[in-house]
Amino acid sequence: MTVPFAAAVIGQTAPPAEEPITPIVAAEIPDQGKIALGESLFNDARLSHDNAIACGSCHRLDLSGDDGQVRSAAAEGGLLDFNSPTVFNAFLSFRLNWRGNFRTIEEQNEAVLLDDRLMNTSWEELLPELRSDPDYAARFSALYGTAPDRTTVLDALAAFQRSLATPNARFDHYLKGERHALTAEEEQGYRLFRATRRALAQILKS
Ligand code: HEC
Repeated sequence: MTVPFAAAVIGQTAPPAEEPITPIVAAEIPDQGKIALGESLFNDARLSHDNAIACGSCHRLDLSGDDGQVRSAAAEGGLLDFNSPTVFNAFLSFRLNWRGNFRTIEEQNEAVLLDDRLMNTSWEELLPELRSDPDYAARFSALYGTAPDRTTVLDALAAFQRSLATPNARFDHYLKGERHALTAEEEQGYRLFRATRRALAQILKS
């Protein structure tokens, strides 16, 4: 049954099947040490070949999680094929990247590290660099009981990215039923989004 939009407007909550977006919920990450370690890795150019670039160069947290460019520079020169998306709330998406070709932060991140147009590194290049750094060696040992390896590097990076949630934005309040959290124009935009999505779903079904 279709619940009229007006139902949400007067304070009732539309059933989940009808609401395409759910409010952002902060992830529960018990280990702050892993978040801090992941943040260090995210901002460390040693994660790229020849220490050229860090994750944070294209995903700047002071620029809403992207780099403000139409398309970022590729490692070998020229421009990337795609715009850098934000890393805020990305972990909540059930598919990642513009083409949706990854399902978890860990597998997406490994692809970025090994992609010759992005970080352009290899585990053979990266792990010895991290292991020879006494600070990293001590932090990995304390948190994971091992030297940095593929699994722990991806785990720490993912822990940091799972901390990049933005709950309680105006839109979240709106989704929880606070009608006036959005301006009339913003609300109109969301109605348009819902209608377009419904129409597309119909076309895909037929
Ligand atoms: C040179 C710029 C650049 C660098 C450096 C970079 N990224 Fe990205 N990132 C991108 C682009 C462009 C995409 C979109 C790729 C696509 O859709 O195929 C992306 C996509 C992502 C996504 C998916 C976001 C979403 O909403 O689907 C995540 C997560 C991510 N990057 C994390 C990282 C991490 C972690 C690193 C470092 C290991 C990193 N990126 C380094 C440009 C960059």
